Parts: sequence; structure tokens; C-alpha cells
Amino acid sequence: MMGTGINIHQRIKNEYEKKQRRAQEHLEEKKSALYYHIPRLEEIEGEIHAAGLKYNKAILLGTVPSDSAAARLSDTIEQLRRERFDLLKANGYDTDCLEPVYECQKCSDTGIVSSPDREGDTLCICYRQMLINHLYDQSNICIAGNSGLECFNIEYYPDVVDEKKYGIKKSPRRQITGILENCRRFLDNFDDPDVKNLLFCGPTGVGKTFMAVCLAMDLMRTGHTVLYQTAPALFNAIYEYRYNANNNDDCDSTVYKNILETELLIIDDLGTESPTAMRYAELLNIIDTRMSNDIKKPCKTIIATNIDLKKLFEYYDERIVSRITGGFDIFRFAGDDIRMKKA
Ligand SMILES: Nc1ncnc2c1ncn2[C@@H]1O[C@H](COP(=O)(O)OP(=O)(O)OP(=O)(O)O)[C@@H](O)[C@H]1O
Ligand SMILES: [Mg+2]
Ligand SMILES: [Zn+2]
Repeated sequence: MMGTGINIHQRIKNEYEKKQRRAQEHLEEKKSALYYHIPRLEEIEGEIHAAGLKYNKAILLGTVPSDSAAARLSDTIEQLRRERFDLLKANGYDTDCLEPVYECQKCSDTGIVSSPDREGDTLCICYRQMLINHLYDQSNICIAGNSGLECFNIEYYPDVVDEKKYGIKKSPRRQITGILENCRRFLDNFDDPDVKNLLFCGPTGVGKTFMAVCLAMDLMRTGHTVLYQTAPALFNAIYEYRYNANNNDDCDSTVYKNILETELLIIDDLGTESPTAMRYAELLNIIDTRMSNDIKKPCKTIIATNIDLKKLFEYYDERIVSRITGGFDIFRFAGDDIRMKKA
């Protein structure tokens, strides 16, 4: 399953350290090949190193860099560098081939760039990209073919009123237009505790999952954590966590923590799991915990179901129904099966 925890930043830090180590190892390999061909290069490295140590020591002892002893040392280093430069050039090598090669030139694979104009350090753009990649990985979402709300196409929804067929008084097109507007508001005010969770209901193939994934994509792009789970998988994960609780399985408890704390949780296909009292209690606990977390930092939930609301409410116990009607904006998706239209 997911097996990933919420602490993305720690994992990114480890990745940067790995990158730096890789660059360093690569450089060492290159050096030993090069020094075999041109032994003088190795001597130069040793001499630069020794002179550098002496220079640093002199400075530490209070010598001014322009004092003759220190100045001589820095001249020596400069000369050695020039000799190395010429030697590399004469032998047809790149003159910077003894520098480590980092994947990101801007931050030397540290993820951090120091900005001279602003105070302190800032995160490199490569960090942001890595963060987004991790968010995608962690989300459980297959991201192929969905780039966010911008790719939600309302033309799949018929612009005809047919209450008998679609179960609503408006045309599905008008209905989805309204839903889309609400979803945009949901995105724009994601951090606002007054913004309610979303419940998408409606028949099969009318875009409930697609809409939820669009919202997830947009949120991840702005750095939010997302977790997508179908209801059966979600209850399964919780079961694993409870069952393994005594075994102290780190993985299961991170998954569980993630379910409670991820900034957006999508519970898809609610009502397809087989109903048990324990599952109702778990669902209630998830919803309650997340709603109370939402006051401190965003902790929103989207539920999608193709079970009729009335049936869903028969299916679940009263407390869940009251949580859902109180904490969720309910949207009824209507239209023809888009899967059929696309195929
Ligand atoms: N608004 C849309 N724009 C573009 N493609 C869409 C849209 N809505 C749905 N689709 C496509 O139609 C297919 C079915 O949609 P989706 O899976 O979201 O239906 P659903 O309402 O979740 O159905 P189910 O209840 O069976 O889970 C998806 O594969 C998706 O690619
Ligand atoms: Mg679906
Ligand atoms: Zn960088």
C-alpha cells in the first residue's frame, strides 16, 4: 500500500544528502582515473590542501590576510590552481572537471539558496519540485491525464432538462456549472475553517472521482498534502493499523496518522465496503478528528459515493448522517455516463 508518512520534508532532506554524496563519490572516481594519468594533479591537490590549512591557521592566529606570510600563502594557492588549470587544458580536459557535478547548479543539491538581497536563505526551486513529486507519490493518485480543475470539461453534461432521467430540476450542465463554482471556492478558501467538506453523490460515470482528483491536483501544486483512498482500502488500512497496533508497525501507524492529518483526504466509493458497526465507528472517528484538526490547519475531506443519499443515510448510522449533513456541502452530480461517451 502507501507505506509513506507525512514527514515529507525529512525525506526530501535525506534525498538531498544522497545527491550530494553521489556527486562526491562520482568526483572521487573521476579524480582517481585522472590522477593515474597525470600524477602531478594529485600532488597539486595535496599542496593546495596543505597551503590552505596553513593559511587558515595564520588567519585564526590573528594574521591579517594582507600580511606578507598570509599573502604569500594565498599566492601559492593561486599559482597551484593556475598550474592545475593549464595542466588540464593541455591534456584536453575540461578545466572544471575536478569540481563536483550537482544535479542542481543553483543550490549544489542542498535545496537551499542564500539570497544576497533578501535576509536569510530560501528554498531552491528544485526543492519545490521535489516536494510536489513527493506529494504526488504520497497521494495514491494516478496523475495521468489530469492536470487540475482546468481540465474539467462541462461539455460532457447534457444541457437538457429531464427530471425523470437525471433526477434534478435543472439541466445537468447547469448543475455541474454550479458545482464547479463551489469547487473553485473550496480551492480558493482551502485554509478557511468555515469552508465545509464536500460530498459528491450521483450515478456511475458522471465525474465524481474525476472532480475530486482535479481538486487534489490543484492542491498538490500549491504544496498541500493529499491522500486518496477508496472506502474499502481505507477501512482495510485502519484494520491493519488496529490489528498490528501491538506489533508496533511504523508503516501502519504512519498510514493511520496520514489518514487523520493529511490536508485533503478523499474517501472514494463510500458505501461499497461491507457495513459493520466497527467501520461506522471508524468513519465517525475520522470525520470528527479531521473536523477538529481543521481549526488549526487545513484538514478537509471529500467523500464520493454513487449510492443514493437516502440509501446512504439508511446504510449509515444517525450520528454519521448528522456529521455529514452538518459538516459537508452536498453536491448531486447528474448526467450520462461519461465513460460510455468517451469510449
Ligand atoms: N468533467 C469531465 N471532464 C473530462 N473527463 C471526465 C469528466 N468527468 C468524468 N470524466 C471521465 O469520465 C470517466 C468517468 O468519470 P468518474 O470516474 O469520475 O465517474 P464517477 O462519478 O466517479 O463514477 P463511479 O460512481 O462509477 O465511481 C473518467 O475516466 C474521467 O476520465
Ligand atoms: Mg468514482
Ligand atoms: Zn536547487
